[in-house]
Amino acid sequence: MKEIKRREFLNKTCPNVAMAILGVSFLEACSKDSDEEVIPIPDTDGGYKINGNNIEIDLTHPNFSKLDSAGWMNFTEQRTLLLKSGSAYFAFNNFCPHQGARDAWSYNSSESKFICGRHNNSYPTDCVTEGTNGGPLQCYTTSKSGNTLIVTKP
Ligand code: FES
Repeated sequence: MKEIKRREFLNKTCPNVAMAILGVSFLEACSKDSDEEVIPIPDTDGGYKINGNNIEIDLTHPNFSKLDSAGWMNFTEQRTLLLKSGSAYFAFNNFCPHQGARDAWSYNSSESKFICGRHNNSYPTDCVTEGTNGGPLQCYTTSKSGNTLIVTKP
């Protein structure tokens, strides 16, 4: 069993955690207000990364293969609907303009409309035309660089 000296343990462990272990009865966050650190969002193996207001999507990643097979997907982690039409890509806020459902979407390719199954309202993809109940879908700017789709949120 690996041993650790008491002083070494206290130096390596957050002092408040150590006090709690030792029976001190107050709890306080380990970090102080003055030393708040910015936690960078790490590159993920989920096929995308966040860069400021941009979502940078690796279109070759299996998590985004549905864009090729179905032509659209609800990218729920980033609350974004993605649509592929020919070689063009579009992105929308997945917040339903009716009552805000984010997880009931389907896509009608013959009418080029997203349908929210919560109350079966439909929404054109032109970013201007209102849906059958509620305003238009909010569009995001997209661009493509190689196999990377960049979605820019406002
Ligand atoms: S919440 Fe989408 S149609 Fe009502």
